[in-house]
Amino acid sequence: MRILSIETSCDETALAITEQNEDLGQSAPITVLANNILTQIDIHREYGGVFPAVAKREHSKALVPLLLKTLTDAGMHINSDGAFDDLMVEELKLLLTREPELLEHTLTILPKLEKPDIDAIALTSGPGLEPALWVGINFAKALSLIWNIPVMPINHMEGHLLASVVSGRIEEDGKHILTLDKVEYPSIGLLVSGGHTELILIEKPDTYSLIGETLDDAVGEAFDKVARLIGLPYPGGPEISRLALNGTPGAIKLPRPMLNSGDYNFSFSGLKTAVRYMVEKMGELTDQQKCDIARDFEDSCLEVLVKKTTKAAQEFGARSVVIGGGVTANRMLKEHLKEALDNIGVSLLMPDRGLSTDNALMIAITAHLHPRPAKPISEIVARGHWRIHQV
Ligand code: KG4
Ligand code: ZN
Repeated sequence: MRILSIETSCDETALAITEQNEDLGQSAPITVLANNILTQIDIHREYGGVFPAVAKREHSKALVPLLLKTLTDAGMHINSDGAFDDLMVEELKLLLTREPELLEHTLTILPKLEKPDIDAIALTSGPGLEPALWVGINFAKALSLIWNIPVMPINHMEGHLLASVVSGRIEEDGKHILTLDKVEYPSIGLLVSGGHTELILIEKPDTYSLIGETLDDAVGEAFDKVARLIGLPYPGGPEISRLALNGTPGAIKLPRPMLNSGDYNFSFSGLKTAVRYMVEKMGELTDQQKCDIARDFEDSCLEVLVKKTTKAAQEFGARSVVIGGGVTANRMLKEHLKEALDNIGVSLLMPDRGLSTDNALMIAITAHLHPRPAKPISEIVARGHWRIHQV
């Protein structure tokens, strides 16, 4: 089965084409034929964060050019001298009325493409920014009409988790292959991104229950906001972790929110406020002070995440922990968690490089490993708050 996957839930437009011989079972290796990400970060940086209307417009402009590149990478870009009939043109106009750039590209460029050898579309339909999600959804619907192939709606957060259960390798002939890692159950999932901080009990593949979550800001959001407070650009996560390397441990003492709350919930908004007060009191910050704040802020977030994840692994008798989401790009998080889990004999599964932050490959991986029934396109809608433990 060949899948085209589409991800537009936030500020990355991403497409991938993958192939799996499902006759060998759902855990058969996956071949990556193409994997592209077009980031909007430079555009959103001016606003200090993601601006949904801008994200929507940028996805709308980027999708068709990125599709052409992705098909070319996969060796599937074949020109044709076809044309859409009037009915198709009317349907596409109706579907893409709110995405004028995408409609124009679709009507002018797609008739000139031979239908590629793709069996299904895997699509992020939530959670995320609804205006951004809708662009990917409407594009998937358009391709489904044009190529007459089904669309499988996929949960973005499940994508983040499952990105960690495969390992990639490049074969001698240049083929990029993903193979399934051994995941021992029960497992604890830790999801940490710009919109989520959740601990999930995974009793067996595809069986999720929520055991804790943030009561206010997500941890990635806190990184982004604290970065702004000390004058660093968006996205804050990588900036804070870069400065933290030169910070003196303990030079600044921030709270460790909910460290001993006795449950698996988190709270990061008070920590951000503590940084705000501190910055207001300190006035103009020296470079070293910025590094010290970044260091203790990062230490605080990681301490709480590592302690609660480890405690959950012990209490639920987990044999593995799977982490996912943009904050897993943080090297210190991976190091500290690995050390804590090694001490209690629990394995840690984490994403390969490039699969921490948003990408379309994780959506394809999810569709191959946990295929969902395709939905009639009229029933596919943006689910901005779709939780991983909900159907
Ligand atoms: O998963 P993701 O790409 O998008 C969402 O689904 O939210 O996550 C983005 C988040 C941002 O808040 C960003 O600051 C954070 O991940 N992030 C990091 C690091 N790299 C990205 N946070 C901490 N340390 C990092 N190295
Ligand atoms: Zn994400």
